[in-house]
Amino acid sequence: MNVLLIGSGGREHALAWKIAQSPRLKHLVCAPGNPGIAAVCDIRGVAVTDVEGLVALAHEIAADLVVVGPEAALEAGIADRLAEEGIACFGPTAAAAKLETSKAFSKAFAARHGLPTAAHGTFEDAAVAKAALDGFTPPYVIKADGLAAGKGVVIARDRAEAEAAIDDMLGGRFGAAGARVVIEDFMAGEEASLFALCDGKTAMIFGGAQDHKRAYDGDTGPNTGGMGAYAPAPVLTDFVIRQARTRMIDPTVRGMAAEGAPYKGVLYAGLMIEHGASRLVEFNARFGDPECQILMLRLQSDFLPYLHAAATGRLASLSAPAWSDDAVICVVLAAKGYPDAPEKGSEIEGAEQDFGPDVAVFHAGTARREDGALIAAGGRVLNVCARGATLAEARAAAYAAVDRIDWPGGFHRTDIGWRGL
Ligand code: GLY
Repeated sequence: MNVLLIGSGGREHALAWKIAQSPRLKHLVCAPGNPGIAAVCDIRGVAVTDVEGLVALAHEIAADLVVVGPEAALEAGIADRLAEEGIACFGPTAAAAKLETSKAFSKAFAARHGLPTAAHGTFEDAAVAKAALDGFTPPYVIKADGLAAGKGVVIARDRAEAEAAIDDMLGGRFGAAGARVVIEDFMAGEEASLFALCDGKTAMIFGGAQDHKRAYDGDTGPNTGGMGAYAPAPVLTDFVIRQARTRMIDPTVRGMAAEGAPYKGVLYAGLMIEHGASRLVEFNARFGDPECQILMLRLQSDFLPYLHAAATGRLASLSAPAWSDDAVICVVLAAKGYPDAPEKGSEIEGAEQDFGPDVAVFHAGTARREDGALIAAGGRVLNVCARGATLAEARAAAYAAVDRIDWPGGFHRTDIGWRGL
């Protein structure tokens, strides 16, 4: 099978690493990729939102399957165009991806289909939104409607903070993505990420993990895309997974089909778990990053048949995948200044050495300097992942590998996995 993978982060490096192990793979190309991905497969400099460029590349390599990593490509309509071209695509159409790309759509969908989630209101006018705060109690959850690179959610402790967030978002901070805001009830509990492959008609649970969204130890500091993750997460019990499947994931697949936007690809349910039961925080239309890196290290089955079956409506013909019993942990190394103003260009040494069979170092925001040196080129830069018989062993292996990387321009959390331990 010829496969085109779209994306350039740690998630896509992990996807490429796993897809490249498939005996069914003939040729893998990633666009635009990164230096780590370039060590696994061919990379081509086509941007994730250059839909026509990607379609042309899919034709050029005679792709049997296109696997979409990031939500920006979905929102740009890559799956729609590939469907017109008759090329199988793992990833939802722009209309189906609205489960992630529009919080207003997603919350209204949840309400229409009775999914357990926080009560909400959607507003376009700042004065109306502020008045509506009367119907909520602090802390207030204020979300920009559209994609905002992980910065579109504010948990406001008091009314003044909530009003400032409303003014900020509706005042144009996120452009069109902030033309509407959603205000929600705050949900207490512990968050976890659950993944399901979907083929438009059916869903298959495909692992879970818990990530750490705050920048600093002890879950403090600003929100980020994720500073590390681990699995298995004790909070994702069999009961929680079964309940999320029957009350959120299956009704979503049925509901999207009934509404004329069948959902294909991976559905990522962000869960809030309290007293052993879960509610939906949000859906995403892609694998989590860095949760995907964990899944790829734990997945024992050949991944390619699952991706292809989801893209072609044949998931029901496959049995559930095999997962390793190992615990896996991923520590994100970020550039100093992340998430607000990551410093770019600092040199990284030791990231490309052989760390042995239980460690994988995935590249996220890296670039190659003219002299061949590896440098930081983004906020989250490297993902150091390790497996072990227990979470404690995985964690020790991951941090031992982190210590072997010499990067004065970076920082990382030292407590990834603490909830699991
Ligand atoms: N790690 C959270 C996300 O991918 O959105």
